[in-house]
Amino acid sequence: MPDYKLISAQLKGFLEADPYYVPALSNASALLWESLSDISWAGFYIVRDGQLVLGPFQGKTACIHIAKGKGVCGTAWEKDEVMLVPDVEQFPGHIACSSLSRSEIVVPVRRGGEIFAVLDIDSTRLAEFDATDALWLGKIAALAAN
Ligand code: SME
Repeated sequence: MPDYKLISAQLKGFLEADPYYVPALSNASALLWESLSDISWAGFYIVRDGQLVLGPFQGKTACIHIAKGKGVCGTAWEKDEVMLVPDVEQFPGHIACSSLSRSEIVVPVRRGGEIFAVLDIDSTRLAEFDATDALWLGKIAALAAN
């Protein structure tokens, strides 16, 4: 299990320097990228004009727009649920940004009551994420967004 307590503490340090969400989400992506093993992508899609738009991230270039209900990210947003996908090839409509990605977690991020973004992390290993990851990633993403 990654040291999520340490990641949260490091993120709080950055937030004290400036709580604006652009550096906060950027450094949250970088901290997750540096701290989690075997990941191929870590970052945010932000809700804008009725769709998701690519936000701060680490990893290879990714698709810019995702419609509500599309892919894992759009489904997490539409259902307002954490999506734990143990095998992306088994997820109908998965949007493949990298052939390295095998499993994925997407966590909706709230701000002022509304879903403001989703945090998306892709792994090169099957079934990399579980409910404990979901819990911690939800807390870290909420810290960064608020
Ligand atoms: N896998 C996502 C698309 C975004 S990339 O993984 C960065 C999805 O199906 O929503």
